[in-house]
Amino acid sequence: MRSPFLQNYKLDHIEILTPMARTLAYWHVKALGFHVTAYSGMDTGRPGFSSFVCRSGDVCLVLTSTYPMLSGTVDDEVQAFINKHYCGVKRVSLLVDSVGEAFNSSIRNGAIPVQYPRKLEDGDGVIEEAAIKLYEDNEIVFINRSRYQGVFKPGYARAPAEAGGGWGGAFTSVDHIAAEVRINESQYWSEYLANAVGTSMVQSIGASDDNKTGMILKINQTSDRLLTFVIAEPESYLKRSKVQKNIETFGPGIHHLAFATKNLQETVRVLSQQGVEFVSFPPSYYDLLRKDNELHGSDIAALQRHGILLDKEGDSYLLQKFIKPISDRPFFLYEIVERVNGYSGFALKNINVLKQAEELEIMSRREQS
Ligand SMILES: [Fe+2]
Repeated sequence: MRSPFLQNYKLDHIEILTPMARTLAYWHVKALGFHVTAYSGMDTGRPGFSSFVCRSGDVCLVLTSTYPMLSGTVDDEVQAFINKHYCGVKRVSLLVDSVGEAFNSSIRNGAIPVQYPRKLEDGDGVIEEAAIKLYEDNEIVFINRSRYQGVFKPGYARAPAEAGGGWGGAFTSVDHIAAEVRINESQYWSEYLANAVGTSMVQSIGASDDNKTGMILKINQTSDRLLTFVIAEPESYLKRSKVQKNIETFGPGIHHLAFATKNLQETVRVLSQQGVEFVSFPPSYYDLLRKDNELHGSDIAALQRHGILLDKEGDSYLLQKFIKPISDRPFFLYEIVERVNGYSGFALKNINVLKQAEELEIMSRREQS
């Protein structure tokens, strides 16, 4: 489908709701190297809230929690999300030239309104925003900050120096925002995003003999490829795929954020030094890579040493690594990717190889027992 939008919307920030924003911000700073550039809370006029704006390259995350005041209650909307999801993405904010036009056009095209256009003002100017629904409990926010000179938004102040000091950070941008949704929803949300924010479905992987992942995937992107929504749904409720189990256990929604880096091996080395733990993959995965003629000449031993996944398309390739979920509720996690020579895919071949490796591991364990 061709995008009806004249201009691609850009990612402004992503808001994560969490029971303990201050602690999570500390981890982003110390472990991942983010800088806290702004915060909001009691002393900035938002009693009962705590928000930290964390940046690394073009990645901007806002970590928000809410807490009961002596004579008040916690914010219902934040607390309801935390009760259900514990820690995860609530809002994806997109920078637009006109909030009114973006919102009206999305509603005309079928988007579900959540927040009508409003203005937030302080001495530094005006922020305009509006929001539409996304997936189960998420929102897309349209934001215009062209008339605002403040540090982030009204109600936010510059973070004190001691709060801001990440070690430099390794991420350049958000590569993709990935969701897991219920059976028969991925087509709906792909069309919804196309109509509401102008993405196009650039890849669709359906059920087939070649697809051993147990899921159906739809990749939705703006034409400049700077904003990508990956949507996965279980191929069948009978197959008990990982996606199906995730949805049954944790409910649908945004499952991971992928950050881009220019040098994944170096990023993994530095993050490991900071105590970051990564998801590991079976040795048989790398044995399969060694048998792949297309990968002849690649340094598989180095990939195995660093636990990095590889997907190759001609001369271009994708390197991937997953950070272990940091909350006790393991639905939401971060991925790190390095795209080399313009690789533009989403490692679909690689997911099949991983699946095959898992099966080999299970078989070898059975043989040993
Ligand atoms: Fe991903």
